[in-house]
Amino acid sequence: MNKRILTGDRPTGPLHLGHYVGSLQNRVKLQHEYDTYVLIADVQALTDNFEHPEKLGDNIFQVALDYLAVGLDPEKVKFVVQSMVPELAELTIYFMNLVTVATLERNPTVKEEIKQRNFVKGVPVGFWSYPISQAADITIFKADLVPVGEDQLPMIEQAREIVRRFNRLYAKVLVEPRAMLGAVARLPGTDGGAKMSKSLGNCIYLGDSSEQVRKRVMSMFTDPTRIHPTDPGHVEGNPVFTYHDVFNPNKDEVEELKERYQKGTVGDVEVKARLFRAINEFLEPIRERRQEYALRPNLVREIILEGTASGRRVAKETIEQVRDSMSLNYAFNPVLSGIDPKSSNRLPHIWKRVHVRRIGNEVGNIKLCWFCGAFRSYWNERVREFVYRDEEISEMQTGRAYVSNELSADIIETPCSTPSKNIDISTIESKILADVNSFYPQY
Ligand code: TRP
Repeated sequence: MNKRILTGDRPTGPLHLGHYVGSLQNRVKLQHEYDTYVLIADVQALTDNFEHPEKLGDNIFQVALDYLAVGLDPEKVKFVVQSMVPELAELTIYFMNLVTVATLERNPTVKEEIKQRNFVKGVPVGFWSYPISQAADITIFKADLVPVGEDQLPMIEQAREIVRRFNRLYAKVLVEPRAMLGAVARLPGTDGGAKMSKSLGNCIYLGDSSEQVRKRVMSMFTDPTRIHPTDPGHVEGNPVFTYHDVFNPNKDEVEELKERYQKGTVGDVEVKARLFRAINEFLEPIRERRQEYALRPNLVREIILEGTASGRRVAKETIEQVRDSMSLNYAFNPVLSGIDPKSSNRLPHIWKRVHVRRIGNEVGNIKLCWFCGAFRSYWNERVREFVYRDEEISEMQTGRAYVSNELSADIIETPCSTPSKNIDISTIESKILADVNSFYPQY
């Protein structure tokens, strides 16, 4: 099995340059080596947007466009919508027992976010405990690697702790993930604030038009101690130069600008104009690709749905193992629990009729126990009984059938034994329907 990447974003709006350098860039680079799943974390977005759930649908679409625009290849990377994988909610609940309230209260990123948000009615439990649900996001995919920005490190650490506790308590089912920081762990905002963040309104978005980018760059925060272009300026901690370092591929130009800036021989306007050009050139192909996909919404929709379906397959597998390891796979099996299956308190099958047509238009009778997957076919006063085990159908017995109103038969009453794994009755049903004739007595 290839190593896996799981990472994600809250769909609170389109993605910006901070997302790019913090995580998207790494995902694009690593998509060829890793099985990559990116979670569009709408459930997490709800934790502080629960009053406006109607915006999520469009935001999910915008985030998917951004993914495609920066070059995530939908053949390689699965886009998974969090709320469409209910197994994540289940795992979150189990994880809640493995984390203390005090640990949650210490999470520095959550603390910082709570400060920024000033929740009027107090902090919702959902928001405050989202690191637990994020641990479920990461671990249900058994991710080895999580490319994220610096602010997410406490979440990865929380996930690692949960994994260690879980594996020690139950069984070694989960994988301890590692964080991978981007080239720039934390991109400052255009206002010089510590972090580019939608809620702070200091962002350049990946889909911004060149006019929007120009406005943002030309009004950027710069060296506040510098009043005239002839004043010697500060390069260190000046976001205009931080951005030059990150986005301007012409390193000579950047060095020259820095030198002149420190000497007071270049104005802010020129430094910013060159930064605008660099960022705009960087964004041009991204913007174009975004536009191409935006014009094909059905394709994007398909990409999201297919990615989510394959994500859910992985999640189902893991949750099965989690339940097994926690002994939540109750068999209620009369044999296992010491009840003699021949005694009168054995569990009866719970039959449902399978509607089949066979041999032209003649209707055959099949009943299927939706609890254990055993089924019986009736034809011409004969009955056959089959069971489904380990993905195989095998015949158990045949006998005389009395076909009146009720389907009854002269065969041994078998107990209904719940299989140890949840079996999918609809799978058995479709197997029966696909090969109807082979389950009837031959004559
Ligand atoms: N908390 C992340 C953010 O705000 C989004 C996220 C949700 C995430 N689930 C994740 C990131 C799992 C990495 C792994 O950007």
